[in-house]
Amino acid sequence: MSVPSSLIRRYTTAERLNHWVVAVAFILAALGGLALFHPYFFWLANLFGSGTWNRILHPFIGVIMFLSFLGLMARFWAYNRITDADRQWVRQIGDVIRNREERLPEVGRYNAGQKYLFWAMVVTIPLLLISGVIFWQPWFAPYFPVVLIRMAVVVHAIGAFVLIAGIIVHIYAAIWTKGSIGAMTRGTVTRAWAKKHHPAWLRQIKGGNE
Ligand code: HEM
Repeated sequence: MSVPSSLIRRYTTAERLNHWVVAVAFILAALGGLALFHPYFFWLANLFGSGTWNRILHPFIGVIMFLSFLGLMARFWAYNRITDADRQWVRQIGDVIRNREERLPEVGRYNAGQKYLFWAMVVTIPLLLISGVIFWQPWFAPYFPVVLIRMAVVVHAIGAFVLIAGIIVHIYAAIWTKGSIGAMTRGTVTRAWAKKHHPAWLRQIKGGNE
């Protein structure tokens, strides 16, 4: 579909749909997982009907998150390769925080923060699936030794902590960088947004399939 000349297409409908399926599955998995993690959060189990229902549903929601994330991973893998400019961006994190973007190396489709977060997702989401399967009662846990199950529980908790912290940063950055949410809702960004936050990407697509 064509877009007005002041706007640039950043995501297709399929990419956005894929993203929001992952996002909804993540939120449900995180809320249900917190209820299972500590009694302080147990009240969250009511969102899923009861403690028992939460216990039954949580692993299946996790599998949906993993499978839908495979789609995001395949779609965005190539855009997230780390370059020398990204390493320089990280060294100048002070300028990033102070909003002095003009001092930074030119950013392409994604900045280094987005890229490292992408790779954190690529590591933690499969780790959550593998560790979760190892202690998924009653289907798979009986096939594994108890020592492995105990290790898997710890890996699952650490993986979940890292992913939840990462997604909090992801959501904060999406809101903080005004104009980004529209990229994932309408699929478009303004030319000014692209020029300010992703100038190398803008140059690359100029005259291309905008
Ligand atoms: C729940 C609230 C969420 C919001 C509001 C949100 C918002 C956004 C926005 C606005 C973008 C576009 C950024 C840009 O184009 O520069 C984006 C990209 C992306 N989001 Fe989310 N997101 C959410 C959850 C998630 C979750 C749970 C995951 C995965 C576990 C995820 C994975 C991604 C990925 C992989 C990208 C593409 C960026 C890249 O490849 O580096 N998002 N998100």
